[in-house]
Amino acid sequence: MHEIFKKRSLAPGYTFFVIKSPRIAKKIEPGQFVIVRVHEKGERIPMTISDFDREKGTLNMVVSQVGKTSRLLASLEPGERILNMLGPLGIPSDIESFGNVVTICRQGTAGALYSIIKALKKAGNRVTCIMGAKSRDYLVLENEIGAVVDELIIATDDGSRGVKGYAVSALREYLKKNQVDYILTIGSSKMMKTVGKIGKKYGIKTKASLGAIMLDGTGMCGACRVTVKGNTRFACMDGPEFDADEVNFNELIRRQSFFKEEERLAMELFEEGI
Ligand SMILES: Cc1cc2nc3c(=O)[nH]c(=O)nc-3n(C[C@H](O)[C@H](O)[C@H](O)COP(=O)(O)OP(=O)(O)OC[C@H]3O[C@@H](n4cnc5c(N)ncnc54)[C@H](O)[C@@H]3O)c2cc1C
Ligand code: FES
Repeated sequence: MHEIFKKRSLAPGYTFFVIKSPRIAKKIEPGQFVIVRVHEKGERIPMTISDFDREKGTLNMVVSQVGKTSRLLASLEPGERILNMLGPLGIPSDIESFGNVVTICRQGTAGALYSIIKALKKAGNRVTCIMGAKSRDYLVLENEIGAVVDELIIATDDGSRGVKGYAVSALREYLKKNQVDYILTIGSSKMMKTVGKIGKKYGIKTKASLGAIMLDGTGMCGACRVTVKGNTRFACMDGPEFDADEVNFNELIRRQSFFKEEERLAMELFEEGI
């Protein structure tokens, strides 16, 4: 179970895996995630399933190497196994015939959008993807997403591919010229907060997939608590997608940095091989 079948590097710090996991592949829907544990003493971290093949019993995953556990996960080689994978978890993404849809992501979060984009296309939507990155070298799944969407808009900070600037600026420009019915964003909380405000300004239904800290993924620990429209919600059970303009992003950003010092120390020890 959970054997790494294929692995490739997508960009510096971004690794793509195909994992054999027939039980999860049978049930998973676009937008759902799993909680992964790499080894016996390891912490549990959430990972979205980028795509799945029910017949082959495989799951695709894009891992952004941001700290100790994601680096350990990315170091696994074909033939090795992920110790535990709990899922599918979370509520599947809203797949309806919305009309004109814009999805917006940055670098590795394109992975989490991929199967959702495919499903939105299958449901008859016209889908545009706005993909942001530091430079062209950090674009993730550009060809794969480009092959599925009606329009791919790339925005790089240094202008090395597509338009120069941030993805949110490209969204602002797009909305000046196009009528949009639905926006879905997966990225940093800061980016999603801005996208939520832009969506609200134009009166467009806008969802954000929240990267709250998760431990058990089953509503027991409270780690992923978020405030949405003034009410307490658990991102693992009630999300991860919520109406972006109703999320208290300032609180989420504070909660996401609760363990910054521990994460820094864990990374230092990991880099020293301790
Ligand atoms: C629903 C969901 C789906 C996700 N899907 C993906 C994905 O497909 N690919 C991917 O690369 N990343 C994904 N993430 C983010 C990923 O879980 C974190 O990057 C990872 O947990 C970082 O752990 P670390 O030990 O490598 O880094 P650390 O050094 O421990 O932490 C770095 C940062 O990652 C975040 N983080 C740390 N621990 C957790 C945790 N237990 N839960 C959530 N965030 C955490 C915090 O913001 C932290 O500041 C997802 C997060 C959520 C909530
Ligand atoms: S991760 Fe524990 S309640 Fe959501």
